[in-house]
Amino acid sequence: MNMKRRTFLTAGAAMTTVAIHQLWNPRSSFAQNGKVLNLYSARHYDADNQVYEGFFNKTGIKVNLVEASADKLIERVRSEGANSPADVIVTVDAGNLWRTQQSDLFQKIPMSSLLYSRIKSSLRDPDGYWFGFTKRARVIIHNKERVNPADIARYEDLADQKWRGKLLLRSSSNVYNQSLVGSIVAADGESETENWAKSVVVNLARRPGGNDISQIKAVAAGEGDLTIANTYYLARLANSSKPEDREVASKVGIIFPNQRDRGTHVNISGGGIAKFAPNPEAALQYLEYLASPEAQQIFAGSNFEYPVVDGIPMNSVLTGFGQFKSDPLNPKVFGEKNAIALQIMDRSGWT
Ligand SMILES: [Fe+2]
Repeated sequence: MNMKRRTFLTAGAAMTTVAIHQLWNPRSSFAQNGKVLNLYSARHYDADNQVYEGFFNKTGIKVNLVEASADKLIERVRSEGANSPADVIVTVDAGNLWRTQQSDLFQKIPMSSLLYSRIKSSLRDPDGYWFGFTKRARVIIHNKERVNPADIARYEDLADQKWRGKLLLRSSSNVYNQSLVGSIVAADGESETENWAKSVVVNLARRPGGNDISQIKAVAAGEGDLTIANTYYLARLANSSKPEDREVASKVGIIFPNQRDRGTHVNISGGGIAKFAPNPEAALQYLEYLASPEAQQIFAGSNFEYPVVDGIPMNSVLTGFGQFKSDPLNPKVFGEKNAIALQIMDRSGWT
């Protein structure tokens, strides 16, 4: 198993990594003093270490981190059952939050929580099982030399035959594109979305593959004119210490699609309290901390994600992207439409 467990100690202390199978039973040891939070997270960003540190400084509660992909975390918590040490489960993409909820691994967050006032209803589960803590827009990235941004305004335009052989996309196995297609199904209906997906596949310059960063690099290199990627990946390249990354970022431009209609597809990273959390109070404190100005600023300033709370200062790379209108569709719908989105991508030959 690839899963790692890190024990967060104090500011500046070394992180220790041990294999999970070497651990003793955390329910009988960590859980007793109430000063520990067992966090299962599919986020894998260095900036999050600052969040654990900030939470410790504020509350004296240590974060014990189990880090793995959403699939592995869900599988693990499910197999641990009522003995799971997980207090909080955090994932990226609402599709994964929805799957965690469908697997009955979250408990309802009390209505009295500060979270309901800090996080608007379009960024949390309507039934109160999970909350979004960061936003990421899934935008069109274009090669500046080859594309006039005025020539494309909507995700729907990616199907236009003028982009034949010019489009780069990552595979349909990735949840980011599944959620995007789910949002298009919600807006345009199933048959229209399937027609769109078929034309999009015809427009591909190469077989889908690679991650968001590799799509952006390929667009900069002229292997295609357009791709779709999450905003923080471009921000990371633009802010990189490597000149070659900044060069890539300088060759591409960002288009926020659907500004004249429903708005750009925005997804979230978020989390909730595990159903059998041994430390539910610490879990709620942690989630509330994630919505605090301090944590929001770490996410926005160091990981280039958009804050979910208004009035948080943003990294200049993000403000440089400009303001945009977001699709207000509740992220729960990405989960509900996931199965049909996958079928459509499959039938369209989006491999
Ligand atoms: Fe990502």
